[in-house]
Amino acid sequence: MASEFLFEFEIKDKDIAARICKLKINGKDLETPSLMPVYNPNKPLITPKEMKREFGCEILMANSYIILKNEELRNNILRDGIHKFMNFNGIIATDSGSYQLMEYGNITATNKEIIEFQEKIGSDIGSFLDIPTLPNAYKPRALEQLKITLERAREARNAKFLVNAGIQGSTYLDLREMAAREIGREFRLCAVGGIVRLMENYRFSDLVEIISVIKRNIPINRVVHAFGMGHPMAFSLSIALGCDLFDSAAYALYAENFRYITASGTKRLDELEYLPCSCPVCSKYGLELKELPERERVRELARHNLYVSFEEINKIKEAIKENNLWEFLGMRCRAHPELLSGLKRLTEQKWLADLDPITKKSAFYLQGPESKNRTEVVNVKKRLKRVYSENRREVAPFGKIPAEISDVYPFNSFNSLREWGKKKNENKNEYKIPDIEKIRKIMDYQFGSGAGELIADNVRIKRSRKTKRIRWIYEEKELIASVRASDHFIIPKMPLAEKLHKRFKYPKLRVVIHDDAIPFVLEGKSVFAKFVEEIDPKLRARDEVLIVDKNDKLLRTGTLILSPREVVDFDRGIAVRVR
Ligand code: GUN
Ligand code: ZN
Repeated sequence: MASEFLFEFEIKDKDIAARICKLKINGKDLETPSLMPVYNPNKPLITPKEMKREFGCEILMANSYIILKNEELRNNILRDGIHKFMNFNGIIATDSGSYQLMEYGNITATNKEIIEFQEKIGSDIGSFLDIPTLPNAYKPRALEQLKITLERAREARNAKFLVNAGIQGSTYLDLREMAAREIGREFRLCAVGGIVRLMENYRFSDLVEIISVIKRNIPINRVVHAFGMGHPMAFSLSIALGCDLFDSAAYALYAENFRYITASGTKRLDELEYLPCSCPVCSKYGLELKELPERERVRELARHNLYVSFEEINKIKEAIKENNLWEFLGMRCRAHPELLSGLKRLTEQKWLADLDPITKKSAFYLQGPESKNRTEVVNVKKRLKRVYSENRREVAPFGKIPAEISDVYPFNSFNSLREWGKKKNENKNEYKIPDIEKIRKIMDYQFGSGAGELIADNVRIKRSRKTKRIRWIYEEKELIASVRASDHFIIPKMPLAEKLHKRFKYPKLRVVIHDDAIPFVLEGKSVFAKFVEEIDPKLRARDEVLIVDKNDKLLRTGTLILSPREVVDFDRGIAVRVR
């Protein structure tokens, strides 16, 4: 791993492959996903101080090449350091001139010079001079440029800043894969590079494929930056795939052309007859925004553009927290046919299902044809194979659903199913599903075929007096499990956990922890990811798990917070919440 650097990154919440994370760099905290507005000291529109005060901005980006090439700027910033010069004590990322390389074909500085310059001015995050090969470039040339990029990456390995390591390879997924493997091994911040043109041309399905191949080939604990992605219409797709950082020069560049950004596309200010926004700028000026003197108009437009960009990030974070990011995507991606193609491509990404939580805080809503391939459907279909029932009903898009588990998430989102589970069977007039059959089938569904047999005939099942729903399962006088009201998942207590442990062989259902963590777990404290030695890869985030030591002695039960892949790769954050 590259130079030792003050760096922490941990997952707080998740949905699909999106994650809300805590990132710490040089003692400065940042919650991701996050937007880095680009500040150009040659063309100051909104000052860093305003970005912080008005937009709550904790991280921004500047271009070190522009600074290096302007003698006065260079000398001032070399003297004061970049934080003091910008009057900004948050995280400052700098880019290397790669964008200029892409736009103008060549630049006059070497990789080494640019790296050293970023070190000298005190960037928290810096870049090497990666070559952003354009989409559909001649492949031998894409490969040749990628080799130079990887060579330049090696020169940055010991940089004194957190390296924002560009992954290139044009639209060639095999080149992207090769680059991702090499960059992902060495760098903790990996950037999806060379995508500006794809964005500009609305090639969202290519974008989805490129981000996907990168995410599949780097460790999942790497921070991922979508380089040059500043338009909010692509934020939700990229965040759903696991991008954490975005940089926006777009808010300013669009403003200079009198373009008004919205989360579903761009408008020309002079063509607007109604303002679809109520940010402080739009509230203050209304349509008079169009009449402002040119300089002021550009500045106010830039502020509006920045407001909607930050707002979109917040909306997406809220959707991650509520676990309705799929529904949010369905809504956003209907704004443009190319976004919808991007969404369709996203639902084809099988790797996403491994990261997605098995149960969610919000109802499952079908929105359109693409919903049938959602991560939840992939995971549910696998688990349905575990359950045998003669009493099944076809429910699109899941297939045949046993009546006994119709209260379980996500089936409980379908009203028709809920009623069916509650009421008499339609064919045999008086048949009502006994509670014990429900519990047994949920056990099979949740833990594996045969788990239902662990529920003895003589258990007592108690319902909540208030909601009348199944809540507790007793054997003799002992509480062996509870049933969670929100999703009807079974929460096993130790007596049932012991039976599961005996019935299913190692490593099934297990999270194996390091000896050092045993005393903490026995006190009921959470298991941190770094103390997990092994984990059943078939588990999903939010599953109920058996916590065992390395000799497979059962210690406790708990709820898995992360997916197995995340538990293995992350060395920070909570992996299992212990009961
Ligand atoms: N800005 C926009 N795209 C890129 C890229 O691919 N690499 C770098 N370093 N900066 C960029
Ligand atoms: Zn506005």
